[in-house]
This record gives sequence, C-alpha cells and structure tokens, in this order.
Amino acid sequence: MKPQALIFLGAPGAGKGTQAREVAKHFSIPQISTGDILRDAVKRKTPLGLAAEAKMKAGELVPDEVVCGIVEERIGEPDCANGFILDGFPRTIPQAQFVDRTLEVKGRGVPMVLNIQVELEVLMKRLTGRRTCSVCGEIYNVYFNPPKVEGICDKDGGKLLQRADDNEETIRQRLVAYDKQTRPLIDYYRAKHVLHDVDGNRDAEPIAKDLVNFLGKA
Ligand code: AP5
Ligand code: MG
Ligand code: ZN
Repeated sequence: MKPQALIFLGAPGAGKGTQAREVAKHFSIPQISTGDILRDAVKRKTPLGLAAEAKMKAGELVPDEVVCGIVEERIGEPDCANGFILDGFPRTIPQAQFVDRTLEVKGRGVPMVLNIQVELEVLMKRLTGRRTCSVCGEIYNVYFNPPKVEGICDKDGGKLLQRADDNEETIRQRLVAYDKQTRPLIDYYRAKHVLHDVDGNRDAEPIAKDLVNFLGKA
C-alpha cells in the first residue's frame, strides 16, 4: 500500500470506525481515532479530557490546536512508520491544512482520502443503536449488527457500552457540526484529486472487502 496516510472521512455514524478497524487489521497499520483518544482522556479525567468533555457532550468540535497536537504526537510514534489511518481527523479546513503541512515536512507524501457516504436518514438509527465493547473496542449495533448475547461482546465477553454522545439531541448537534465544518473537506480534497467516494449504504462486510481490494491495488 503506497499512501502513508489514509484518511477516513464521513458523517457521524457513516462507519469510519467500523471500516478503519478492518483496514487497519488487514494492513497491520494503526487506526488513529481522535474521538477514541479524546473519550479515553475523558474517562481518565486527564487535563485533555477535562478540556474536551463539555464540547463532546454538546456535540461540538474540540478546538483545532488540541486535536492537531494529539495527532502530531501520535503519528510520530514508531508503529506509524509504515503508514496509519486517521479516523475522524481532519474535520475542519485548518486541520486538513495541518495534515498537509505535517506530511510534507516529514516527507510522507499526500494523504489518500476515503469519503464514506451514507443517507442522512439512516445515521440516527446507526448512532442510537451503537454499542461498543469496553474491552476490545468492537463496534456493534442493536439494529444492524447485534451481539449474540445482548450487552455482551461476542469476542471476549466484555460489557457493551453506549457512548455518552449517542443520544438524539447530541447526535443532531454532531450532524450540524459535520455539515458546517467537515463537509467542506470533500471539495478541499476533491480539488487535490485524492478523494475516493465509498458507498456506505451497504452492509459493513462488502464495504470492507471493497476497501481492502482497492487499497491493495493503490
Ligand atoms: P468521533 O468519535 O469521531 O465521532 P463521529 O465523527 O461522530 O463518528 P462516529 O464515531 O459516531 O461514527 P463512525 O463513522 O465511526 O461510525 P461507526 O463505525 O462507529 O468524535 C466524537 C467527538 O469527539 C466529536 O463530536 C468531537 O467533539 C470530538 N472530536 C473527534 N475528532 C475531532 C476532530 N478531529 N476535531 C475536533 N473534535 C473532534 O458506526 C456507527 C454505527 O453504525 C455502529 O453501531 C456500527 O455497528 C453501525 N454500522 C457501521 N457501518 C454499518 C453498515 N455498513 N451497515 C449498518 N450498520 C453499520
Ligand atoms: Mg467512530
Ligand atoms: Zn470485546
């Protein structure tokens, strides 16, 4: 796989995390989810977590300088040497410009952007139905991809949790933030000829298969 940086772009609930997990496993590269890093910081009540918590609860974006700092540090770690996936980052134009500059300075080329497109109507159901394993991070859905036993991870028996921001009110705000601040990245990357549209209105498995095939040839 040639591109060093893969960016998974898409609205909340589009399936960025679900697909990034599969692709990361297949190519043995790390999945870097700014949302996961922030949620972990909130859980541990670190200064980062305390600063980000209110924004996340409100469904608003955390300031650019905060998330850019997280990503800059993370992609400098040794496991990113052969490439990495950015899941949920960048999501503003300044963040995208930051990625461009950082990759250029490090001599790591231009990113490849996978834009997962999903009908707006299904996003609410995907998000309110999401449950995540507290042990391994596996992503389930009570409507579309339920575990064998309710509330329990198939893989390790871990307890499945619902995210604090997966309530209807916060979801609506997250969708507004996506529309205003993140959707413009589609044109930004299309103009650079690095954007690939992915039809996310299908089952998760065939999407992952297509992505792995496509990236294997890239
Ligand atoms: P983040 O954690 O990134 O949340 P998000 O962008 O809202 O996206 P989600 O994680 O909700 O959705 P996803 O696309 O990963 O979908 P998933 O695969 O889980 O960010 C959270 C917050 O952190 C932000 O609001 C912000 O405050 C802050 N933040 C994070 N990054 C930031 C940044 N760069 N800048 C500023 N602030 C930042 O799937 C969803 C559900 O659908 C699951 O249940 C899954 O099982 C199901 N599903 C997935 N694919 C399919 C399919 N094909 N068919 C049926 N069901 C499916
Ligand atoms: Mg996610
Ligand atoms: Zn698990």
